[in-house]
Amino acid sequence: MSSVKITINNQTVHGNTRELLLDQLEQAGFHPEYQCRSGLCGACRCRLQQGEVAQLDALALTGKNEILICRTIPKSDVELVFPYQLRCNEDAEDML
Ligand code: FES
Repeated sequence: MSSVKITINNQTVHGNTRELLLDQLEQAGFHPEYQCRSGLCGACRCRLQQGEVAQLDALALTGKNEILICRTIPKSDVELVFPYQLRCNEDAEDML
């Protein structure tokens, strides 16, 4: 497992190349939107600004440079942009 940096709306946390981005963001104290957690609904869609990812099978449509974080594993440092203010636990500051 390699460690990577995950930047979310200009905040950076430490992540890995083994777990889904949605799980990693939640572990870091963020609360991204989601519904199905299985690539069907598209609620977890965000823009991949920079970096490489592995997108697992999913049925929800995505636009150019968009990913579904419930079905995506980072393969390098990544920068994500969500089209809304991402809620974050106060203790997430410790992980930045
Ligand atoms: S939560 Fe439904 S596609 Fe990701």
